[in-house]
This record gives sequence, C-alpha cells and structure tokens, in this order.
Amino acid sequence: STSGTTDSYDITQRVAELEILPGLRTKAWTYGGTFPGPTIVSRSGRRTVVRHRNELDQPVVVHLHGGHTPAASDGYPTSLILPANGSYDAHRAAQDMAGGKHGMSMDHGTMDLAEGVRSYTYPLKQRAATLWYHDHRMGYTRASVWMGLAGFHLVHDDEEERLPLPGGDRDIPLMITDRSFAEDGSFRYPLVDPEFHTPGVTDAYMNGVLGDVVLVNGAPWPVHEVERLRYRLRFLNASNARLYKLELDPQPEGGDAFVQIGSDGGLLAGPRRHDSLEIAPAERFDVVVDFSRYRPGTKVRLLNRFGDGTTAEVMRFDVGSGSPADDTTVPEKLSEVVSLDPGRASVTRDFHFRGSAEGWTINDLEYQPGRALARPKLGQTEVWRFTTNFHHPIHLHLDHFQVVSRNNRDPGAFDHGWKDTVDLRPAEAVEVVVRFTDYAGPFMLHCHNLEHEDMAMMGDFITE
Ligand code: C2O
Ligand code: CU
Ligand code: CU
Repeated sequence: STSGTTDSYDITQRVAELEILPGLRTKAWTYGGTFPGPTIVSRSGRRTVVRHRNELDQPVVVHLHGGHTPAASDGYPTSLILPANGSYDAHRAAQDMAGGKHGMSMDHGTMDLAEGVRSYTYPLKQRAATLWYHDHRMGYTRASVWMGLAGFHLVHDDEEERLPLPGGDRDIPLMITDRSFAEDGSFRYPLVDPEFHTPGVTDAYMNGVLGDVVLVNGAPWPVHEVERLRYRLRFLNASNARLYKLELDPQPEGGDAFVQIGSDGGLLAGPRRHDSLEIAPAERFDVVVDFSRYRPGTKVRLLNRFGDGTTAEVMRFDVGSGSPADDTTVPEKLSEVVSLDPGRASVTRDFHFRGSAEGWTINDLEYQPGRALARPKLGQTEVWRFTTNFHHPIHLHLDHFQVVSRNNRDPGAFDHGWKDTVDLRPAEAVEVVVRFTDYAGPFMLHCHNLEHEDMAMMGDFITE
C-alpha cells in the first residue's frame, strides 16, 4: 500500500509447499509463500516500510542487501524476529546461535528480540539499483537462504527512467541459485541434522555448499520466450557459494553478447561489453541483450562455463520469428558516476580473510557480535584492502564502494561501477575506496559465501 511519503509492504514468512521439480513437492521457507519472495519496488528517496511477520518455526532476520539503511533496520545478525507461535524465547535463540557456529561465543547483550513481527524502515536515499533481501540470522543464514528466504528489491529513479532502455516485461530480474534435492523433492543440505547444526569446518564445507540443480527465479533450467528485441536482464547470484561464468550459446555474431549497464550499486557511467560474465555470490550484473542479433527461431542457451554436467546450463531463451521494431537503445552515456579519490582517504585499513581447518576468520578473529573491527567516521573516505589465501566474495553493508585496484593493477573486467560485493581470489589483494555516510551504528563486513559467513568470517564495523 502507499500513503503520502511511504510505501508499505506486509510479508508473512511461512512454510510453503512448492512444485519446483515436476510432480514433486518441496517444502520451502518463504517470504509470502513464493520463492523467490515478492519483488519489492521502490522509488529512490521515498521511504519503504516492510513489516515482516514470522510464522516459521525458527527466528529470522531480514537484511536488505545493497540498501543504504539505518542500523536499526539493517538486519543485524542478532536482531531476531522470534517465531509468532512462541516456540522460542531469548535463551533458546541465544543457545541456537552459539551452537550454530563453530567455536562461537554468544553474548546476550547484543540481542534485540521482536516477538513475531518487526517493521523495517528503508529511507532508500540511494540511486536506482537492483537490491535483494535475504535472511541474515547469525549462524543460520546459509540454511535460511538455502530453504528459500531471498527476494528482489528494485529501486527506480528519474535518471534511469529518462534512458531509452528496455522496460516493462523486457526488464527481467533473474535470481540464479543452485540447490540439491532429496528423492522426495525436499531441499537437501548436506552434512547437517534437520536443525542445521554445523559439524564445524570440514573439507566438504571448504568451498561452501554447492547444489547440482540450477534454478532461475526458483525454476530449474527454465525456458523464456523472447522477441527479436533488446532485453534488460538483471542477474543476481543468490547461491550460497557457487560462482558462475555466464555465456550465451550460440554467441551472437561479433561477440559482446552482454552489454553491461549496471552493477551492484546501479548504472555504470557508460556500457561495458562482455562475451561472458563472472558472477560471485551476491553480485548483480545489469545487462542488455539484443536478441535481434539472432536469426528467427534460434534457441539461445545461457551456459555456466564454470560448471559441469547439470550445472553447466542455466536457462534458455527461445527467440521469436518476427522482426518487431525496437525503440530502445543503450546510450554511450548512462549516468553521472562520481569517482571517489583514494588519494583523499583519511585511513587505509587491512583485512585479511583466512581459512583454515580451525575456522574462517577476518584478521584472525572469528565473528563476535558487538566487537568492532573498524570504527569509520561518517563523512570520511577510507581505503580498505582485502587479502586472502582462498576464494571469498567480500561484502560491505551501508555504503557502496569502488574498486581501486586488483593485485596493484587496474580493477578487473567485472569490478566496475558502484559495488557492494567484490570477488576476492586466492593470493589476491583488492583495494576498495568507500565513503561512510548518514547512519551511525554497527554494520557488517563479511564473506558472502554463506557457509564461510556463518562459520564466523564476519565482522562488525561501527560508524560514528
Ligand atoms: Cu547479502 Cu550481509 O549480506
Ligand atoms: Cu548486505
Ligand atoms: Cu569466503
């Protein structure tokens, strides 16, 4: 619903039986009965309030990923909505979170409990962008997201609307996830008991949990019919841990199938052309594909070049036979993107992401709610330097950043624009520049491989 200055949404989180595989029922944890959850559509600068009611059997936390959000509504991992059925009290919730994580200590002092319902307020003082919302409960994010708690939240603004880009049913958000299924159709998450207690960091968890069925918007290997026209495809990798290298097959003549117009934080200054897209967990790539470059009737497969067997294919586009007129284009100038100057940074901070048999750490610390790894001053620019011995998609809450360098060289092909997640690869160093703005409080820095995140590769930073 909508009133003068606010758009309001009501979402009930509940178990739903979905038909994901033909003829089988999958019990999912859902936002409002669907997977993905309902797409929330907001206007830049206009407040959106989302009221979540928890009819699931476990506590939940809602985080708007990419949202420029005050701390109280950001989905801090211990700001729980307890089940409305009263099955949890503070003690059980705390016990669960401590047990859900390898070697985790749980201090009740940071817990902020809501009974059954919580309203999240999103001022959305930010540019048009493809955001998404998902669960963020400490120690259980991997389980909740795997079971279905993820959805799109799109923000529009005037700048974007003035552009002659494809819109309406030719603007398609595509949430890519991988899942495994048991024979009866239920989601199968390996190596855990039904309560999702974790056995610790084992070999099978090193890379996070991978599924063998690729779902797009909750459907396995779907087929989408397209006209011979330009389409805007908003790719989101909402997988727990899988990286994809997306490529169209066949490639259009002359290559450059994907014309990238945006990244995590909205439009790029100008389009960038790619034959393939490497997309790490939580990243978004906003691209235009011109299907008029294909002959009528072509079946265009979207492949995953990092996959094999069943994970090598993502979906298919069946190109129509007509030759409709297209009044859309991709202008060479898309947006005014201000570059942050790393030379003006008041501080450079180092964050080392380490994986070992003992656990996943940032600067040798396992996640502990309330402990700050950094205290940035609001209004100041900082350079954050990420290093690792492994593979980790690194995500920052609150403010988007720009990638300054990768291994002391220029940013990579997929690092452009405003980002909130950057793919950090083994033995790499990535520097980002970020300006912290508007909201004081605790926010998170973490690996978005959800198994790594839950097993303590997360830290608070407190803006002040
Ligand atoms: Cu998408 Cu802190 O997460
Ligand atoms: Cu986030
Ligand atoms: Cu990681």
